Amino acid sequence: MAYVLDDFEVMISREELARRTAELGREITTHLEGKGDQLVVVGVLKGALVFMADLIRHLPPDATCDFLRLSSYSGTESTGTVRFDFDLTQPITGKDVLIVEDIVDTGLTMSFLLEALEVRKPRSLKLCTLLHKPARTKRPVPIDYLGFTIPDKFVIGYGLDYEGRFRNLDHIRALRPGAVARPDESAEDKALPGAER
Ligand code: IMP
Ligand code: MG
Repeated sequence: MAYVLDDFEVMISREELARRTAELGREITTHLEGKGDQLVVVGVLKGALVFMADLIRHLPPDATCDFLRLSSYSGTESTGTVRFDFDLTQPITGKDVLIVEDIVDTGLTMSFLLEALEVRKPRSLKLCTLLHKPARTKRPVPIDYLGFTIPDKFVIGYGLDYEGRFRNLDHIRALRPGAVARPDESAEDKALPGAER
């Protein structure tokens, strides 16, 4: 069974995303006080890809970019463990690290990542997430820069996926209340949240 695009309604428009992303970029740049040369922007693949591409165009030009990818294995959802699929390509010791994430949902992924990067002794470590679903928090994480707080709804677009699709929408949509998944000939049934990062 699968949902299709029409099962999702617009939640955040392209214009709102552009406005908020530019604001966040300006805020981060102001806090750097001209010291952008030590900034490493770390994108968490795949979900952060669209947000990060837009955000970095509002950051100082001497910032560098790197990426990592995480997977979570949730035997039971509450004890989900996270591991690196692949890691950064550079040391971050002494650097100003800005993690860029699509959404903080339960917080399990970001609490793992913050701990994992903290031991590498960056000069500073900040988290910028486009979305936050506080109703789902299992492990609170300190969010330094937040785009939007959203209700407990499954969202797609602007990097976020449902079963790998819809990342390329230029806006965010939420699953409509009462939407019913249709039979899907191509795939076996899958659980809804966090299907792909
Ligand atoms: P966590 O529950 O905070 O560990 O979130 C783990 C990951 O699940 C996020 O980085 C997203 O990639 C994914 N995720 C959580 N909520 C949603 C959603 O509503 N839509 C799409 N992906 C989501
Ligand atoms: Mg995802």
